[in-house]
Amino acid sequence: MTTESPAVVRITVDDTELTVPAHRTVAAALMLEGARIGWRTTRRAGEQRGVFCGIGICYDCVATVDGRPGLRTCLVEVSDGMVVSTEARDA
Ligand code: FES
Repeated sequence: MTTESPAVVRITVDDTELTVPAHRTVAAALMLEGARIGWRTTRRAGEQRGVFCGIGICYDCVATVDGRPGLRTCLVEVSDGMVVSTEARDA
């Protein structure tokens, strides 16, 4: 018996529900289904930050995922029922 993974999952981003392809990273879902380039801003200049390196080095993409703050969204795979809160929401 094989268990097939779903083709899509539902996540909530700042109170907005999105249907996204399974196995996509949260960062990719924010950009592609959430239509966002950035979801954080720099402290001094207020410049937008989102994905910069895409490989877990720069921390520009952090967000709160399922209540865990500061996760690098470029490294976290979406899962059904996941709740993502960005800096825009946390502010
Ligand atoms: S984009 Fe650099 S850590 Fe995620």
